[in-house]
Amino acid sequence: MSKAWEIENFLTEKNNQLFVGGVSAVALAKEFGTPLFVFSEARIKQNIERLQRAGNFIDCALKVCYAAKANSNMAILRTVKDANCDLEVNSGGELWKALKVGFRGEQLIFNGTSKEVWEIENAIVAEVYAIQVDSLFELSLIDETARRLNKRARVSLRLVPEIETNTHSGLQTALLTSKFGMMPAEALTAFQTYKDSEFLDLCGVHLHIGSQNPASEPYSQALKTLFESLEKIYLETGLKLAHLNLGGGFPVNYLRDNSHEVEFPQAQREMFAADFEPADAIKNAWHSVKEAARVSNAENLLENLTLLIEPGRSVISDAGVCLTTVRNRKERPLKNEQLTVNNEPLKSSDLSLSAVNCPLSIDNWLLTDAGFNILLSMETYKWYYHLISAERAGAAHNFPYKLAGPLCDGGDVYFDIEGAARLPDYRLLPENVQPNEVLALLNCGAYSIAQMFQYNGRFLPSVVLVKASGEVELIRRRAGFENLITNDVW
Ligand SMILES: Cc1ncc(COP(=O)(O)O)c(C=O)c1O
Repeated sequence: MSKAWEIENFLTEKNNQLFVGGVSAVALAKEFGTPLFVFSEARIKQNIERLQRAGNFIDCALKVCYAAKANSNMAILRTVKDANCDLEVNSGGELWKALKVGFRGEQLIFNGTSKEVWEIENAIVAEVYAIQVDSLFELSLIDETARRLNKRARVSLRLVPEIETNTHSGLQTALLTSKFGMMPAEALTAFQTYKDSEFLDLCGVHLHIGSQNPASEPYSQALKTLFESLEKIYLETGLKLAHLNLGGGFPVNYLRDNSHEVEFPQAQREMFAADFEPADAIKNAWHSVKEAARVSNAENLLENLTLLIEPGRSVISDAGVCLTTVRNRKERPLKNEQLTVNNEPLKSSDLSLSAVNCPLSIDNWLLTDAGFNILLSMETYKWYYHLISAERAGAAHNFPYKLAGPLCDGGDVYFDIEGAARLPDYRLLPENVQPNEVLALLNCGAYSIAQMFQYNGRFLPSVVLVKASGEVELIRRRAGFENLITNDVW
């Protein structure tokens, strides 16, 4: 493999074209139109196996619950289920989808900060593995609901332990300033209050330290925090917890091809290029907890314990590619000094390929059919998706273009208009890209089709799954005119 973005048996270049799971991306774009999301069944399964492997390094049971919020297309959920992976859901809607696709209650974790009574009812009736509780108020609601249904609800309390990671500020979830969970002291009160409840089975504690965490150490800190709670709860209430839930957040390397690396400020670069093995993080975290248990003579509290993880991005992100077509182009004269990187004037040496051969006094704009209506993170978190030409995947990508989507917003661009230099101003593609050329945005499987919307009357795109056999399955039909008005009443 000669291209940095290539992934063996999944994302490859052949005859100058991009292939996904052995299928030509250009042929798929022709058959299904663009924008088009293409997923690889083999890659999803490989990513799940990679996470499940962590179970080999710890001496307790590991329950991997794919976070459905990252992508809950029914065929993706089916693929996850077929890989013997359990599921985390975040609403009554996701719970309904999970049950419909065939997950059993004991395979499900039910999360969320604003649960309605009907959602709690459905989770209790489905006998989910645990409802993760966000506040003392919510716990009382679950108790009341379980009492009314005359059923016992398994619950686990979500803690907010003040653990900071170097991810994007909007993806931090374990700080006191975040909206999630309860303080460890509140959780202890909850366990004291409900320890003898007939209707609540208080079986675990949970936390989630954020998404795309660049370093693995916070996982050790997080698991130690969970263990400290478990120990305290045992000492103060006599309750022995059945599980600890370490959440998700394992990173994906969005800069596998690092041709734009130098243009990111260091913190962003480290976040986008994060690439540690989840199994190592889990192994280290488990060992630090075992050591803590040995020191406090509490090893018996680890017996028969189950460790849960809730990975989303690390399962589905790099298994999905978004194909987009250039629909328009234009040239704009620009003065050199207006082009900046890290607030400094741009020199061609700032673009990491030395052979940049475009006069920097002209901006070449390409307008695609993929905007933040289908990749919302490009707007909310200024997320970076590496871009290549699907038609000329083998050609030198050394010509800078300004890229933008189809929406009516000035912010629908592939760079950062606020000048915070979070994203490269230019994307490198082969020379002379013209309208109709098919491009590919890589690592687009997570938080993309799960968040898309039909802003500007744009049709939601088709999604296909390339099976391990090479067969292509249409897993979501492209929307049409009627879909634009499905729920309008007039
Ligand atoms: C509670 C919880 N668990 C798991 C996840 C999945 O995180 P990731 O996709 O980064 O693995 C999230 C994401 O926001 C979450 O909020």
